[in-house]
Amino acid sequence: MAATKFLKTVLALLAAAFWSGAAAAQDTVKIGLILPMTGQQASTGRQIDAAARLFMQQNGNKVAGKTIELILKDDTGTPDVSKRIAQELIVNDKVAFLAGFGLTPIALAVAPLATQAKVPEVVMAAGTATITEASPYIARTSFTLPQATVPMADWALKNGIKKVVTLVSNYGPGLDAEKAFSEHITKGGGTVLDNLKVPLANPDFSPFLQKVADLKPDALFVFVPSGSGALFMKQFLERGLDKSGVRLICTGDVTDDDQLNGMGDVALGVVSSHHYSAAHDSPENKEFVQAFEKANNNMRPNFMAVGGYDGMRLIYDALKKTNGATDGDALLAAMKGMSWMSPRGPISIDPATRDIIQNIYIRKVEKKDGALYNVEFETVPNVKDPVKAAK
Ligand code: DHB
Repeated sequence: MAATKFLKTVLALLAAAFWSGAAAAQDTVKIGLILPMTGQQASTGRQIDAAARLFMQQNGNKVAGKTIELILKDDTGTPDVSKRIAQELIVNDKVAFLAGFGLTPIALAVAPLATQAKVPEVVMAAGTATITEASPYIARTSFTLPQATVPMADWALKNGIKKVVTLVSNYGPGLDAEKAFSEHITKGGGTVLDNLKVPLANPDFSPFLQKVADLKPDALFVFVPSGSGALFMKQFLERGLDKSGVRLICTGDVTDDDQLNGMGDVALGVVSSHHYSAAHDSPENKEFVQAFEKANNNMRPNFMAVGGYDGMRLIYDALKKTNGATDGDALLAAMKGMSWMSPRGPISIDPATRDIIQNIYIRKVEKKDGALYNVEFETVPNVKDPVKAAK
């Protein structure tokens, strides 16, 4: 009798443990954060990881009754590694979201897995225009290169720049920037003297800059990814291009807030176009920059950080809208058309393309309180990706 009672108690306890375990699993929503934490793009990983953690610190880890768990994985900047990681996150960890994506080839490599598993892929960094077309489960909170570049070409035309050379990293976002800039400036009556393409891995800009010096354009337009701007500026200075009369214009990826302050006075006066500057003058941004610096040993947030911060907001708000349900189709439906005030200004997710609509700012590098900043002086409001808008 005593033995039977004991057995019953043990069984009851085991059952209770099993059910509470299952309930805990159901109550947890996992986000797989795939980022380059090592290698050439490590600053992107560092910035987005810090921003995601700040968002959770400020907003808590509970949404619609669920506990949010962030799982960070280092993709090392390699598409094959990112694919394997995404597969493990989907199959073993049963993540409800894949997020991050510091480079275009990585966002594209994971897209078929997102489609197959019906798991939302929130692109917080990569900027090639066509990425959102690679899967119906992709939504983007970063930017597209054509979106940032066309306003730069407009500004150049309005400011008497006629003959240009372009210099870009030779892969998706660079080719997008080159095309958008060249087509737009040509349409406006300008001339493109050359389109220079530099390898993405371990770039040496010197021979290309010599070519620019020989061609003597009014301006050189540049795109290099986040993390490569400081090396470009160093070689621009070493080649004496700063004294050659060739004006340097670029996307904000070059005058990246993560590196800008270390570039020195060579960066002063450089005009760029982009969606975010740490110097953006708004109460939301002041609060964001202050909190980010405080939580990260005074590291200044860059445009990657704001993409990560807003990506987390998109995930939280989509979950609120589905009442915590993690069905991929329901989450994507919730994301479409969402709009909010970001540290960068007003943004929304285009319901037709799942891409971001945002202001693009024209900025100039200036010294403020002894530090270099991209100071915004013109705003082009509510810019859609022009490549998809033209389709
Ligand atoms: C991409 C990466 C960057 O670091 C950047 O500044 C812009 C675009 C990309 O690979 O898409």
